[in-house]
Amino acid sequence: MEKKKFYITTPIYYPSDKLHIGHTYCTVATDVLARYHRLLGEDVMFLTGTDEHGQKIGDIAAAAGVTPQEFVDRIVEGPRGIKDLWKLMNISNDRFIRTTDGYHVQSVQRIFKRMHDNGDIYKGTYKGKYCKPCESFWTESQLVDGKCPDCGREVQDAEEEAYFFRLSKYAGKIRDLLENTDFLEPRSRVHEMVRNFIDPGLEDLCVSRTSFSWGVPVDFDPGHVVYVWVDALSNYITALGYENDRYDDYEKGWWPGVNIVGKEIVRFHSIIWPAMLMSLGEPVPKKCFGHGWLLLDGGKMSKSKGNVVDPYILAEQFGVDALRFFLMRTFPFGSDGNFSNELLIQTINTDLANDLGNLVSRTTAMVGKYFGGALPAGCGTWAEEVPFDKELKDLAGSLRDRYAAEMDCFAPHKALEEIFKVIQRANKYIDENTPWTLAKDMEQNGPRLAHVLYNLLEAARICGVLLVPFMPESMDKLFAQTGAGESARTWESAARWGGLSETAAVAKGENLFPRVDMGKALEELEAAVEAARQAESGVELEPQLTEKVDFDTFCKSDFRVVKVKSCEAVKKSEKLLKFILDDGTGTDRQILSGIHKWYEPEDLVGKTLVAIVNLPPRKMMGHESNGMLISAVHKEKGEEVLHLLMVDDAIPAGAKLC
Ligand code: MSP
Repeated sequence: MEKKKFYITTPIYYPSDKLHIGHTYCTVATDVLARYHRLLGEDVMFLTGTDEHGQKIGDIAAAAGVTPQEFVDRIVEGPRGIKDLWKLMNISNDRFIRTTDGYHVQSVQRIFKRMHDNGDIYKGTYKGKYCKPCESFWTESQLVDGKCPDCGREVQDAEEEAYFFRLSKYAGKIRDLLENTDFLEPRSRVHEMVRNFIDPGLEDLCVSRTSFSWGVPVDFDPGHVVYVWVDALSNYITALGYENDRYDDYEKGWWPGVNIVGKEIVRFHSIIWPAMLMSLGEPVPKKCFGHGWLLLDGGKMSKSKGNVVDPYILAEQFGVDALRFFLMRTFPFGSDGNFSNELLIQTINTDLANDLGNLVSRTTAMVGKYFGGALPAGCGTWAEEVPFDKELKDLAGSLRDRYAAEMDCFAPHKALEEIFKVIQRANKYIDENTPWTLAKDMEQNGPRLAHVLYNLLEAARICGVLLVPFMPESMDKLFAQTGAGESARTWESAARWGGLSETAAVAKGENLFPRVDMGKALEELEAAVEAARQAESGVELEPQLTEKVDFDTFCKSDFRVVKVKSCEAVKKSEKLLKFILDDGTGTDRQILSGIHKWYEPEDLVGKTLVAIVNLPPRKMMGHESNGMLISAVHKEKGEEVLHLLMVDDAIPAGAKLC
């Protein structure tokens, strides 16, 4: 029988900047859903990609002195770029689309032409407000306090010849789609869309620009490029081969698919996108799910606010699976949530180290200790039913259906809640049965102990199967430790208590999730963030010396404030400058310093500097130097940079530094 097809997408990301934990949240969530559908046995196509056109990218590239193509190539394909991040996060996308891919460009041109030919795109004059960072046009009435309603930034007046899409024509159909179907979820987003955009009246949408060129050219009208949202939204079908020869999956039943998007782009996905598809005579998506934002200190993360959280650093410090799990466990998928490092560490310690990790390590350790790593045949059944055996079996045995119900309505956080009820019940079951007491008399209690341990392995296995979409690598380890073979890892086996072979080889392996020391981890994180910041700015600092000097030795160094009376380059030397300094003693002091590379002598006259004045005199190029001027040095992009230490001119010459 042919497998059911399931097509799911993330938004395609702007490669204007590094991706942060908010973007990672969106992609991990979609990956979890894709993996869930694979676990169900469906034929899954998971698409992600990058949205590379538009004025903003053109401007940033120009500022960086590279072509837009070079710029996006670096951010998408380069080291620690977008593709690298998804690889690190174990994202299982089947396809990656770049809107600069030739086949996509060709499809967009054809899509634009089809909508033009059927009368839904016409030429007019655009007058309005444009938000450059969001690449969105707004009418006066849509602005909030005169600013962009999405990001709150300034908008500009804009007027130019442009093509328009007859969005207004589709208002009735879109209202119907939103109000009378379950196309858009959560439902709260439906009310938002209807109230803010449909009720006030849908206006036609400007869909071409002439003021910049970094975009898909309108092939029948040179000078116009396609408005980025028409270009970007089309990716969901061009990646299947719609209007191109690169793929032929569009006709094969993948479309319509499920679009997972962040809340600020629900408007584009639930109004403009279905209207475009209606105009093309194609089916609208099965679902648009608008998830919430991860906030930091209550606000949205953005590079310009300097509050982005780097997923590379978190994944490297805590492990990819722990990070994936935290994102899905902590924040209800449809709502906003406040990110914090403390919350991440707490979640790892409570759920992963204490609850799940402990269950697996205690159980596998006991199978090793009391049964040499394999339980005896027959341990799966127990004649006299004990109430807590039944409770555990019933709860774990029925988990799969409760889990599926939550996953099917895009509530991975609730599916995890169900799993953790079973894990907690299993840990309680250990305390109820006190295996270590049973083990004191193996002859009498051995069979009962084996049954208890089998039940624990079974509960852990079932939870493991259902956790695969969230933490694929760690669950492979869990299966290896609990002895769950291929047939005990399937979706079917998760609803079957007793799926684990009674005599499976159990091996206590490495701790699945080590406990994290909060204080130490926070300090390490801070250092990692600082190192990344320096690496990004190209600044390298000398490592601090660990060798200590005693205080008395330090106090012997005599640092004084000095004023530059004159300064000149030393003849025949490229580096040396000769300073005559007022050091407060009434006698001029001469110091030579090799800093000509960074300073011109005339710029230093009159400056107030710091010198160490009790070094023994030294001859340099035939001139005596009595001391040394103090500077700060670091490296930037491999080059040494020096700054003379300059202090407030109000400090008199000769003042001692202590
Ligand atoms: N390029 C458009 C999407 C076009 S889809 C046809 C875009 N790109 S984006 O890079 O700015 O955002 C991509 C996704 O990341 C969006 O769904 C957005 O909501 C999500 N997130 C960005 N910051 C986020 C948080 N802080 N929290 C959660 N998701 C966030 O929009």
